[in-house]
Amino acid sequence: MTIKKICCIGAGYVGGPTCSVIALKCPEIIVTVVDKCKERIAQWNSDRLPIYEPGLDDVVEKCRGKNLFFSTDIERAIEEADLIFISVNTPTKTFGHGNGKAADLKYVESAARMIAQIATSNKIVVEKSTVPVRAAESIMNILNANHKPGVEYQILSNPEFLAEGTAINDLINADRVLIGGANTPGGQSAIEELCQVYEHWIPRKNILTTNTWSSELSKLAANAFLAQKISSINALSAICEATGADISEVAVAVGMDKRIGKEFLQASVGFGGSCFKKDILNLVYISECLNLPAVAAYWQQVIDMNEYQKTRFSAGVIESLFNTVTDKKITILGFAFKKNTGDTRESPAIHVAKTLLDEGAILHIYDPKVEESQIIEDLSMDHVPDLKHKVKIYPDAYSATKNTHAIVLCTEWDEFMQLDYERIYSEMTKPAYIFDGRKILQHDRLQKIGFIVQTIGKKLTRSAISRSWGSQSQI
Ligand code: NAI
Repeated sequence: MTIKKICCIGAGYVGGPTCSVIALKCPEIIVTVVDKCKERIAQWNSDRLPIYEPGLDDVVEKCRGKNLFFSTDIERAIEEADLIFISVNTPTKTFGHGNGKAADLKYVESAARMIAQIATSNKIVVEKSTVPVRAAESIMNILNANHKPGVEYQILSNPEFLAEGTAINDLINADRVLIGGANTPGGQSAIEELCQVYEHWIPRKNILTTNTWSSELSKLAANAFLAQKISSINALSAICEATGADISEVAVAVGMDKRIGKEFLQASVGFGGSCFKKDILNLVYISECLNLPAVAAYWQQVIDMNEYQKTRFSAGVIESLFNTVTDKKITILGFAFKKNTGDTRESPAIHVAKTLLDEGAILHIYDPKVEESQIIEDLSMDHVPDLKHKVKIYPDAYSATKNTHAIVLCTEWDEFMQLDYERIYSEMTKPAYIFDGRKILQHDRLQKIGFIVQTIGKKLTRSAISRSWGSQSQI
């Protein structure tokens, strides 16, 4: 079989960009991305795509209506496809067994059941979603139990390594593509079919083929390693603040060792995004189920350190503002979990904003790409009924900072580095504070303007007021 038609179930942050790039690179393959959410599909078919991702609009514009389609007709797309990606969400379970840790596979299972119900010809079913090790076995069980005569399935694992904000570049210039499958003639030939799709643009040497379980585990492992690097540098940032070492200098010195590498060594308010926390929790849960408590505790600590960092940063803001923020106006610059995305899932800004709201602050929020409705939804808390009076969303950084006491920078958007901070300072309440949770601003310059500046992993000693976080001394 040569793949002529691909269906992708799930038109989200992964399914949309991945299939757009496949369509771009494989003009002879018809790619249909389906979703049960009508609004999402309508947005994919409009000029305003449901997700912001640099370069995505161009790719969609080139392919949509030619060999790339977005549809709610799931049945038809499954029926016609030779290969089906399952790219649905796999959130952390919020109930029952494994509550708060295990991956909730209900969407994967429902996709598998739909395939079993609809398919009347052979299909290669590809797990693109991040799943626990041996999830492919469950999918196979569902498909086999609902087997129609003459229909054969092959299940592959093909986890996605793209990062939001750089998804198109990550897909086009992937470090590697990983494909896991069964060590049977059918499994191997399915791997070969999928390899041929990727070989349209990825050199063969960068396409790794493994057994299914290695592939599933590698995705969890890769995210765990990445998050562990961030938690490690964040842990060291606390030591820097207490000792006078500078975490940026430490990061350069450590990162120049090729065995460690310089990427992902930027100390910050903490990592966010839909994947790191959920995937590590999943790894912790798997380790516990396998009766490996030491392994579970090891990875749990990566998440605990991230929570500690977010809490430490928020506490530092409050402490610096004379230990009270009640009725103080505070600007939150950036709400997305990182730059170049509008995604707020697990954004550290949510943690910081909620802590400040709890303490009675009034928040002025600006983010270049996050919708107002999303921010309000993320900050909704039962005990803060008058949220609309406590949170105001602004269309730019200047109006958001006017007449506020402090700026808390939560997302590393490039535009925050280019702002006219003289102008901002002149329009803020004095003393004016900046808390740089991403270490992207020029702290010396800001201090010269008059700001009291605090950042992560460096004790900035200019005035009596600025002091290291965690210190209990009062001014
Ligand atoms: P998402 O939430 O943006 O998209 C999932 C989509 O699947 C939603 O639009 C939902 O309506 C749809 N869906 C769920 N069940 C369905 C069904 N039965 N039929 C049709 N549509 C259905 O999720 P996202 O971020 O794209 O993640 C998908 C998977 O990829 C997850 O397992 C995630 O862990 C993994 N992943 C995510 C990355 C990211 O950066 N967001 C990166 C790499 C992997």
